[in-house]
Amino acid sequence: MKVLFIGDIVGSPGREMVFDYLPRLKKKYAPDVIIANGENAASGRGITKAIFDDLLRAGVDVVTMGNHTWDHKEIFDFIDDTDYLIRPANFSKEAPGKGMTTITRNGVTLSVINLHGRTFLPPHDDPFTTANALMEEAKQISPLVFVDFHAEATSEKIAMGWHLDGRASVVVGTHTHVQTADDRILPQGTAYITDVGMTGPYDEILGMKKEDVLYRFQTNLPVRFEVPKKGRAQLNAIFAELDNNSGKALSVSRIAINEDRPFIV
Ligand SMILES: [Fe+2]
Ligand SMILES: [Fe+2]
Repeated sequence: MKVLFIGDIVGSPGREMVFDYLPRLKKKYAPDVIIANGENAASGRGITKAIFDDLLRAGVDVVTMGNHTWDHKEIFDFIDDTDYLIRPANFSKEAPGKGMTTITRNGVTLSVINLHGRTFLPPHDDPFTTANALMEEAKQISPLVFVDFHAEATSEKIAMGWHLDGRASVVVGTHTHVQTADDRILPQGTAYITDVGMTGPYDEILGMKKEDVLYRFQTNLPVRFEVPKKGRAQLNAIFAELDNNSGKALSVSRIAINEDRPFIV
């Protein structure tokens, strides 16, 4: 199975990049499953039903979330009606939605799990023990398991990579919005990257208007961050090929599309 994962889609520039490049990425990589992190898809904060539907129409199979899951209140109205939008599994037991789903393509099933870090982020249940329980559940279904670990600290993400090495097929980090250059296959066969990077504005600060972010850094005064509608944009993703029988990764490569690194067919 071939899997393409698109890093945090930020606002309309991020969505436009997905609509623009997904047909070309499909042609080049022929992914069986496309997963995207959509926690910032609606103006940088959360996701709406219309945006979720647009992403599915563009070819995304599963959308994962993160700390911005509940930012757009609309999600409460539809998260329980779909199998293809998941939020971190270690959120409160009372939270709507679920943290794991499955997707089947050409008779092969992949489980997709979303987890949330708790270092430099609001406290949630332990993602490592949650991962243990979900991995048991997922392995009953298929050897193929994809994990989006939405976390701030590189150390916590690397720890999750080692925690799941040989159990998950792929562990990707999201949330920090900057792609790391450490994509690799760990010794027991898990494809890993600390952060996939974001999809959205290229010349701003993690997707938010740089003037506002600079103002807050210099004054500590409250300012509402915004995703600029115009300007250059980027797309960051990861592509992995998995062995359907063992669930182990055969290859992993990172994708960065921007004006300094144009897309090569
Ligand atoms: Fe994000
Ligand atoms: Fe995040």
